[in-house]
Amino acid sequence: MVFGRNTTIPVGGADTGANPGRPPVPTGASAPALAGRGLVKTYGTQRALDGVDIEIAPGEAVAVVGPSGSGKSTLLHVLAGILPADAGEVFAGGTRIDDASETARSELRRTRFGFVFQSGMLVAELTAEENAALPQLLGGLGRGAALATARDRLGRLGLAGKERHRPGELSGGEAQRVAIARALGHRPNVIFADEPTGALDSRTGGETMRALLDSAAGTGAAVVVVTHDRDLAASLPRTVTMRDGRIDGVRGSVAGVVS
Ligand SMILES: Nc1ncnc2c1ncn2[C@@H]1O[C@H](COP(=O)(O)OP(=O)(O)OP(=O)(O)O)[C@@H](O)[C@H]1O
Ligand SMILES: [Mg+2]
Repeated sequence: MVFGRNTTIPVGGADTGANPGRPPVPTGASAPALAGRGLVKTYGTQRALDGVDIEIAPGEAVAVVGPSGSGKSTLLHVLAGILPADAGEVFAGGTRIDDASETARSELRRTRFGFVFQSGMLVAELTAEENAALPQLLGGLGRGAALATARDRLGRLGLAGKERHRPGELSGGEAQRVAIARALGHRPNVIFADEPTGALDSRTGGETMRALLDSAAGTGAAVVVVTHDRDLAASLPRTVTMRDGRIDGVRGSVAGVVS
């Protein structure tokens, strides 16, 4: 199955009955952008995920916090279809994705998801605009069009004038904004960010994060951000706290419902 932007969601397909006692994930117009049900992931004797249920509404920004080793990155990787769970189900837009083929999951990551990691992982030999346009260039979009839209995104992120700089000629915060511009290029439904400002000082980190959230809000993308920054987490509408592979607490509201 190919998950293009206009993929029709099969109504009623979400309740597989694999997780008894849990309500089915809504489909159609009320479907969450992303949902995990009963997620378990074990490494040897280590339960990195120990039964996690989570739903992220379209356009919602959620912070995932918790001590080192509590399972935050594992949760992100399982939700993004990068890492298979041992048990449980993952849904994107109401469609189950964890049992899809690797080809379909990688198509989904390419078309509907965007990723920003702790260090931007830019290509050192390419300019800022080429890095920001890389997915489109690899996807076959013409170079002129790909670079023009990349320059537009860089400008919105405050990087006008830096388009021809290579990563080594950018500050840490600027490089991270190039990575954000790259993650936004295909207008993803969900942006996964794992400590995207962890390598920056707190002021630059805050500004970079604000740029990411504003850009996501501009395109209606949901954001799931793992962070150790308490101020950042407190500034988001919802914070999910993980401990020992479980969700230990939730602060905030989803779609106006305070939990
Ligand atoms: N590939 C792996 N092999 C073995 N154990 C792993 C692997 N990846 C993660 N773990 C273990 O799973 C648990 C959760 O790891 P995870 O990376 O999700 O934590 P985290 O909350 O992201 O921590 P941090 O804040 O340090 O990034 C940890 O105990 C970790 O040691
Ligand atoms: Mg981590």
